[in-house]
Amino acid sequence: MGQRKPIVAGNWKMNGSCELIKEIAAVSEQVSGEQREVLVFPPAILLSEAISAGLNCGTQTVSEFESGAYTGEIQASLVKSLGANYTLVGHSERRSIYGESNEDVANKFAQAQSSGLTPILCIGETQAQRTEGKTEEVVKQQLEAVIKKLGIASLANSVIAYEPVWAIGTGLTATPEQAQATHKYIRDLLHSYDQQVASALRILYGGSVNESNSELLFAQADIDGGLIGGASLKPQSFKAICESAKG
Ligand code: 13P
Repeated sequence: MGQRKPIVAGNWKMNGSCELIKEIAAVSEQVSGEQREVLVFPPAILLSEAISAGLNCGTQTVSEFESGAYTGEIQASLVKSLGANYTLVGHSERRSIYGESNEDVANKFAQAQSSGLTPILCIGETQAQRTEGKTEEVVKQQLEAVIKKLGIASLANSVIAYEPVWAIGTGLTATPEQAQATHKYIRDLLHSYDQQVASALRILYGGSVNESNSELLFAQADIDGGLIGGASLKPQSFKAICESAKG
């Protein structure tokens, strides 16, 4: 992992409670520090509670608009003013269930950055796309939608999360070799735009990460930590996963 400090992030999706915030805050306090950054994405309505408990956190999505008549949306500048630092953009569930396009995701990425949040750009192929040999083409398009709109320099203040859709919530994890191959492809692609940005960028792996597979995944040269779904709701599992990420 070299000079890149790993991140272990928990994406709670539409789960969680005030009780879980207390438990995860206690874990985070024990395992955050020199070795790794620990981050939590609770449901937006629990954000203030999570920040008050001392968690380093963000939202699971933000609106692409600055403010105004967008009922139900999450305003990036408000997230920042509450004390959060990050937001996910383009999670596969947002893309597949809510129809977010690469262009929408690039707009959300832009809005997050202009509000002072660090976007974690989620990318990844479906099972059908992998079977057709299109993994690299898909992640390239997802990345280049942002690069074309905002330039390669915008990625300097971001994080990438590679989450193969077929590995999310299925118990089917990419093998460390499969994950590393795509992470290396991503870093090499970005390297062709800007060497410095590519070598400093943190690229997280997500998809059925648990305490039994995290150590080998995180040991890969281009994997800089993880984005954890189900296992981030279990304090002891999340703690063990955090401890397996070493800077
Ligand atoms: P699981 O860890 O439950 O597979 O979820 C991964 C994910 O979608 C994190 O954003």
